[in-house]
Amino acid sequence: MPHRLGSVLIPVPKIRDRVEELAAAVSRDYAGKDLLLICVLKGAAIFWADLSRALTIPCQSDFVAMESYSGATLPLAEPRFTKAAGVSLEGRDVLLIEDIVDTGHTVTHLKKSLQAQAPRSLALCGLLDKAERRQVEVPIEYCGFVIPNVFVVGYGLDYAQQYRHLPYIARVEEVG
Ligand code: IMP
Repeated sequence: MPHRLGSVLIPVPKIRDRVEELAAAVSRDYAGKDLLLICVLKGAAIFWADLSRALTIPCQSDFVAMESYSGATLPLAEPRFTKAAGVSLEGRDVLLIEDIVDTGHTVTHLKKSLQAQAPRSLALCGLLDKAERRQVEVPIEYCGFVIPNVFVVGYGLDYAQQYRHLPYIARVEEVG
């Protein structure tokens, strides 16, 4: 599908300030706990990198990968695990780090799989919430921004694997 980069939705300073606020909240809530960040690749990698470096408490990190889109913007019927967590979650305080919650299917599926490993707690930190697209109810304990129903890229998010490196979040527009 021909497309072009559209206007900026969330500029760099706004992202930076919000990530710092989220990190402060996580640092406060998880003080004295056994915090394990699970970063959902690839989209949450940059968010995880900034958020984790702004934490003021000890934590460990691991990575999982899910495939939810088959090409550019066409969702798969069922999200698939392409990389599972490499550490035990049993008895840990797990915080899932996601780039965006759209329909809610990916994170619901992921939470179900992780819950089966008996963590002490399991919460979600999502940078973006496309709330009006939700099909399944998902609590987002730490939410960066609620955004409208537009396809966005940058700060880790892609369109056909492009634009992840942009420091801001921008719309993608179809052309033609
Ligand atoms: P869900 O299962 O519909 O909630 O989709 C979640 C996943 O879809 C996210 O982790 C992203 O990988 C992808 N996604 C959904 N909306 C966007 C978007 O606007 N830009 C980039 N990726 C998106």
